[in-house]
Amino acid sequence: MKYLVANWKAQMTKNDIEHWTYEFSTLMHKDSEENRTLKSALEKNSLRIIICPPFPHIMLTAKLLSDHTGIYMGAQTVSTKEPGKFTGEVTAATLIELCGYSIIGHSERRSHFNESEEDIHNQIQQCIKEKITPIQCIRNEKDTIYPEVSIVAYEPTEAIGTGENADVDDVISMKQQLSLPTNVSFLYGGSTDASNIKGYLDAGEVDGFLVGTASLKAESFYAMATKMI
Ligand code: PGA
Repeated sequence: MKYLVANWKAQMTKNDIEHWTYEFSTLMHKDSEENRTLKSALEKNSLRIIICPPFPHIMLTAKLLSDHTGIYMGAQTVSTKEPGKFTGEVTAATLIELCGYSIIGHSERRSHFNESEEDIHNQIQQCIKEKITPIQCIRNEKDTIYPEVSIVAYEPTEAIGTGENADVDDVISMKQQLSLPTNVSFLYGGSTDASNIKGYLDAGEVDGFLVGTASLKAESFYAMATKMI
């Protein structure tokens, strides 16, 4: 199975999401061969789309996309804590009522919010306990990949949001260095869009993409999905 994961970060208002989902649904209803193939890939689970909105908009996004098969919801992080008196935290026990996935250890969380390896491992354990699938981000081979993880997203910081996606060869050589177990999916993230994902896919080593900027417009995200089938 391939994954296309939208990371909306701290962006997208309610209005933006209503607009995005309307546009996305319109594209998904197009009568074209390409669209039929995309829908069939989503139905057969050969492609899975995961949308990660800001916490307060997960439910709205899920509702607005509920007509489509193969589109799942995710969060962008989760608390290291169990439910309790932790003002402002969103625990895995809360999240599982809204979504089945969570991005964990994104480099922006590590750098702006000082998330440590210990925090990241705790978050992963919280996810696993609640049956949320963590999508663990790593910046390079030095970041620990935890044994509980089944989806790893390699996101070199210099490629995130810069328009400079990493070379296919570099991504493949990173994958080789990581020697992941065969049941672990390997995603790449960093300035991907419909114009540059083919190279990674053709190399046959990448199981999908974690997408920031190009996921903010329904059209560019849909275009990426059609390249993955
Ligand atoms: P980008 O973001 O696609 O804008 O580079 C990717 C990410 O931060 O997950």
